[in-house]
Amino acid sequence: MSAKVYVLNGPNLGRLGSRQVDVYGQTSYADLVALCESTGRELGLDVTVRQTDAEHELLGWLHAAADEQAAVVLNPAAWSHYSYAVRDACAMLRGPLVEVHISNIHAREPFRHHSVVSAVATGVICGLGVDGYRLALHHLAAHRAAS
Ligand code: DQA
Repeated sequence: MSAKVYVLNGPNLGRLGSRQVDVYGQTSYADLVALCESTGRELGLDVTVRQTDAEHELLGWLHAAADEQAAVVLNPAAWSHYSYAVRDACAMLRGPLVEVHISNIHAREPFRHHSVVSAVATGVICGLGVDGYRLALHHLAAHRAAS
């Protein structure tokens, strides 16, 4: 059975491709889903990609991932910077957590420099565009025995 990985995306990421393309690039959310699914197939991972603008929905998905001991790739988007609820849900995960940001949050406005999620993540990838998701999946595949 292939390893389960949830790729979870927070608010406004459904607008990729039309949202601030100078910052987030031309790749649409549909393209991002296709990229994650094809990378998962290539690596033998069972990848499910989701996006929500509702915090409680993300919390529910994180709880389910914790129950399943699944690995998670998470772009918490704006919630990264202030949601202790998302951080607490991430702290419950029992599989690895890779936090991904498309943009380099450290090179942007000061309020983006800190992520409350990072301290409970296994690792963080930021500033590499949507390629960060592909790299996160490669990491999880390479370390799946430890997950
Ligand atoms: C983001 C960075 C956040 O600061 C922002 O609120 C987002 C996307 C990124 O992927 O670069 O929505 O997480």
